[in-house]
Amino acid sequence: MYTALLHTHSTLRYVVLVLLLLSIFKALTAGSRVYTEGDKKLNLFTLISSHIQLLVGLVLYFVSPMVDFAQMSNKFIRYWNVEHIAIMIIALVLITVGYSKSKKAKDSHAKHKAIALFYSLGLLLIMVGIFMIKDRNPW
Ligand code: HEM
Ligand code: HEM
Repeated sequence: MYTALLHTHSTLRYVVLVLLLLSIFKALTAGSRVYTEGDKKLNLFTLISSHIQLLVGLVLYFVSPMVDFAQMSNKFIRYWNVEHIAIMIIALVLITVGYSKSKKAKDSHAKHKAIALFYSLGLLLIMVGIFMIKDRNPW
């Protein structure tokens, strides 16, 4: 079960990243274009993929051998104990807030703007979190 979850989580990262990039690109280039059903669907798929990633991540947190509170002083292990979950949850909260704001906003411009701002902040944090894996892990 651990291997299956890790593969799912590892593959889903690309889905989340590509969807985030598409959502952000469309929002940034929207100008005064109206916020269509298509925009809404794309932004919703991005939100859903990120929430599935959260769910799988949370389960992994309890089954992964890389999460081990007995080894807090090992920075490779601590990355998974603390940094990964903290950074990713903040990123996912930002994305969720962005989607929520885009839903509540009255006009198209404000909807596009909420996505452009909050999805970009979320993406930035996810990239920081992923790049940290490189120097926090020996492999
Ligand atoms: C630990 C797991 C999860 C947590 C903590 C979580 C949390 C949230 C929160 C806080 C919202 C925002 C509500 C709002 O302000 O509108 C939300 C919305 C949503 N979540 Fe999740 N979620 C989780 C898993 C999932 C999964 C597994 C899916 C789909 C397979 C999913 C699909 C959605 C959808 C579709 C919405 C937004 C619907 C809408 O506003 O139109 N979530 N979730
Ligand atoms: C968008 C959000 C996220 C992204 C892009 C992401 C990305 C990744 C990546 C790239 C890996 C390494 C996979 C591999 O070694 O093949 C990983 C592993 C892991 N992630 Fe996430 N993650 C996210 C959210 C989360 C969250 C919210 C949690 C916890 C609640 C979490 C918990 C874990 C755990 C426990 C591992 C396993 C480490 C191992 O056993 O090797 N992730 N994640």
